[in-house]
This record gives sequence, C-alpha cells and structure tokens, in this order.
Amino acid sequence: MALPICVTIIIICSYFLICNDGVEAFHSIYPGLQSISVRSVNKLHRTAYHFQPRRNWINDPNGPMYYNGVYHLFYQYNPKGAVWGNIIWGHAVSKDLINWKELEPALYPSNPFDKYGCWSGSATVLPGKGPVILYTGVIDKHSNEVQLYAIPENKSDPFLRKWVKPKAFNPIIKPERAMNASVFRDPTTAWWSTDGHWRILIGGSRKNRGMAYLYRSKDFLKWIRVKHPIHSAASTGTWECPDFYPVSLKGKNGLDISSVGNSVKHVLKNSLDKTRYEYYTIGTYFRNKDKYIPDNTSEDGWGGLRYDYGNFYASKSFFDPSKNRRVVWAWANESDSKEDDVKKGWAGIQAIPRTVWLDSQGRQLLQWPVEELNSLREKEVNLSNQKLKKGDYVKVKGITAAQADVEISFSFSSLEKAEAFDSRWVNPENVCAEKGSKNEGGIGPFGLLTLASEKLEEFTPVFFRIFKASNNHVILMCSDATSSSLKTELYKPSFAGFVDVDLSIHKKLSLRTLIDHSVVESFGVGGKTNILSRVYPTLAIKKKAHLFVFNNGTEHITVENLRAWSMKSARRN
Ligand code: FRU
Repeated sequence: MALPICVTIIIICSYFLICNDGVEAFHSIYPGLQSISVRSVNKLHRTAYHFQPRRNWINDPNGPMYYNGVYHLFYQYNPKGAVWGNIIWGHAVSKDLINWKELEPALYPSNPFDKYGCWSGSATVLPGKGPVILYTGVIDKHSNEVQLYAIPENKSDPFLRKWVKPKAFNPIIKPERAMNASVFRDPTTAWWSTDGHWRILIGGSRKNRGMAYLYRSKDFLKWIRVKHPIHSAASTGTWECPDFYPVSLKGKNGLDISSVGNSVKHVLKNSLDKTRYEYYTIGTYFRNKDKYIPDNTSEDGWGGLRYDYGNFYASKSFFDPSKNRRVVWAWANESDSKEDDVKKGWAGIQAIPRTVWLDSQGRQLLQWPVEELNSLREKEVNLSNQKLKKGDYVKVKGITAAQADVEISFSFSSLEKAEAFDSRWVNPENVCAEKGSKNEGGIGPFGLLTLASEKLEEFTPVFFRIFKASNNHVILMCSDATSSSLKTELYKPSFAGFVDVDLSIHKKLSLRTLIDHSVVESFGVGGKTNILSRVYPTLAIKKKAHLFVFNNGTEHITVENLRAWSMKSARRN
C-alpha cells in the first residue's frame, strides 16, 4: 500500500535529520531569497555589543589582524539579502575590538577566478612588506574553488580600505586533478620556518576523510603542495576554515604564528561541514616532517574538544602583538527561520572576540572575552553569600537584563547528594535535553535564568548539574533554548558540554554570561566550557526581560558572589 505523500515526506525528512545530527551541511541555498532586501531592518533583536553589520547576512570572520594600531575584521557578507549568497568580504575596523567602523567591502567578485564568490580566508602580515590576504575564489556554479591573494592598494591608508588582486600570479593555487575542487578552501594565515618557506593550510576532504592540505612557498607567490596533508581524520567529512597556531605551555600570553621552541604546543581547529560544529586538538607540530600529531588526550573527530558547545562556527584566530595575546573570532549563526531572517533584514552575528590560551594542565584551551569588553560595563549590582534552597528564584534587580554582563560563583555545603552519573551518557546535549533546568536533581540544576519574562513563560537557563560517577564528579553545563521563546518556528537546542574540573580541589563553580538581546554567550569555570545560544524571545525583550539566579536541586547551594552590569551599546561607525 502506498504511503500518503505527507507521511513519505516526514519519513524522508526524519531520515536526513537522524543521519545528519539535525543540521544541514554547507550553507543552505535559497536562490529565491538571496537578493531580497527590506527597506528598513527590524531592530528588535539586534545586538548592542556583539558585532553585526548594519543589515543583511553575515557568516565567517575572515582575515582578522592588527596592523598599524588598527584591528581589521573582514567577514563573509551578502550585500543583497539576509540569507547566504552573493558572497563578498565585508570590512570593519576598530581600535579596541569592541567599537567598530564599517567600511566599504574589501573584496568582491572582479575576475573570472572569483566570479561566483569571494569565500573565506586569512591575512598574514609579511615583515617589512605589510599585509597579504589569501582567500578562496569560486570559479563556477559548481563551486569549484581556487586560492587567490590580495594586497592593500595603499599601505599608508590607516584603514586599508582598498584591496587589489594582482593579475600576474592569481590564482596562486589551483586544485590538482585528483582533488575534489569543490571542497578546497579557506587558506590559513601563513607561518614562516627557518628553512626559508612560508606555509599555509587549506581545508578539504577526500572521500569522507577530512584533511588540511599543506602548501609551502619561498616568495608567497609560487606555492607547492607538500605530498601529504599536515593532518587528516577519517569519517569527519570536509574540513572548513582550518586554523593552526602555537600556544605556550606556560601562562596566558599568545604566540606569534611562527613561534617555535620546547615550551610550545600547537592547536589544529577544523570546522566540520557535516555537523556545522567545530572541534580542535592540541598536539605537536613536527616541522621537519611537515606533520602534526594530536596528543592522546585530545580526541580527534566528532566527539573532540570544542571552543564552544553552542552556535559557534568557522572560527579564526590571530595574534595581537599589541597585547601579546591570541584572539579568536567566530560566526554565531541564526536560530530564526529563513523567512523571518528575510523579514527582519539581517542574519548572523559575530561572537565576542575571546582571548585564548592553554590550560595549565595542557589538556584543553581556555577562553575569555577580551578585556576591552569591560569598558562597556556600567551600573553594577552585587549579591553575596546568598543561600538558595530548592525552588528559589532570586531576581537580579537594577540592571538592563536584556543587555548585561554577569559573573557569578557558586559553592555547595556537600556533594553527597549528587545524582548518579550513567556512563552511557556520552552526549551532554542529550542529558541536558532529558533533565532540563526544572527537573529536580541533587546538586543542581542551579544557575542563571536569562532573558526571562515576568511570569517565566520564556527564559533561557544557563546552569550546572553535578553528578557522581564511580570515582569523580561529572559537571554538566547547559544553555537550554527549549523555553527561550513562545515562537515555534525556531531552532531551540539544549546546548551542553561537560566541564573538566576537579570539584574535590575546586569546591566552587563559576559562570560568566553575556546577554545581548538575541544572544546568551556563557563561559563556564573560567572559560573551560563555553556555550553561545541564539534566542528570539517574544515577551522577554528590552525592559521586559529579567534575570534570575535559581536552584532546582534538593540541596541548597550558595551564591558566593554575583556581579552584574548593564552594558552600554558599542559604537558603530
Ligand atoms: C564556512 C564556509 C567556508 C566558505 C564560506 C562561504 O561557513 O562554508 O568554508 O569559505 O563559508 O561563505
């Protein structure tokens, strides 16, 4: 018997959702929506201090750099509409990574090699010569890709507004015959080695094996592929936007991309097109062998370490010599529907730039919002030593809760009553979805209720739950969008990650959350586990948004210290 057509459609759709982890590969293409521009953008959920262009679609950060006292952020941008398409490089500059001036686009299709799009890439500052951009050009409708370079038309323009693509050598890298040219993109910043060569990575895949191709060059113009990729991993699909950089074994200082030495480890981050999540490994770069090998404490593949367990993709880092730090940027994608993106006239934002460094145990990275963000803080409120019993919700009054920065630390009198951890719980998101913020546990759930409406019809909880495993405690951190909005046609995941912290030493758990109208960006335990959620409340907006601290565990917990600030809006232009 034939199945009714709607049942067949549901079965096919569910099949793709199950097989694809519920996410779409590559950017969804909506030819009919790509070039629809609304007259005025809807400001309701626009961010006040997370970067976004004045209108239209934005995705990956590109070519971040610090040059002559100015930070540059380029980004994938659709100048004509609020869904992905017509991709060019937007350009903004800043003196502090927080207040931005949007300039005219830096790169747009202007030759046969980027006729179908100027896709992601990086910037490298060549000593004594200035910056060079490497980016992917799309040459045809099938998205066959090549790599191009661009240089500033006038290096003495402080904002480097205009970029030229010299004809003589472009494209500088073409895919070889045996490669899949439609997945050959996103060149990294180049690093220099004492053998006199510059090296870069380019993301791609062969069959289902994700890989980062390695190229080298003496003059930055003629590039030769090293026989083997610097690294690859089976079944991970296409690697987009690889990022490869050194980190110091000691301290928080960042390192210049070409740094070497015994106290240096390397990080390789890849954005997985298949899941639209990224993961990184920490490992050793063997220069003489042109190989990178992840440490055995870094899982290489789907379940690996992530900068962020939420909406955070296509990240890219750069070394900031003015403050000796490495800063990572990322695109925070939408959870709103395409139709609503078109209606509101904008889609996508950038996460707050984060300083990134290696944890003292060398097993993972730590991240923290760049210190300049604190300049937007005003009107502080405090709370300290406040006991929260089961079912307590304490309102944090006196700040603009839809535009705020909150730091909080919790302590517990005993961990005796923690729920038992089931060793089959390997996926934190499933645990978060199953347990939620309301289901009573032993220790927790406790945390913040952000963007909450007065009667709690809407709220985005960011919270911890502590479990007891056979010989340690397992800490789950969640940012659960399930109840974030009364609107139904939204992506409302229960984002979550485990936090690698030893409670027998640390006795406390801390959290910092940045709330910015349609963003809740959280940093758990000093930046060990981070989760960015994009949410679209309908009631909890502007002055009608509230912030609470809550505890739904049977055991009381103590808010040791809470500091919350209203945030000023960042200056744009
Ligand atoms: C990542 C990505 C890149 C590509 C760009 C196109 O989001 O797919 O691989 O260069 O976006 O906009």
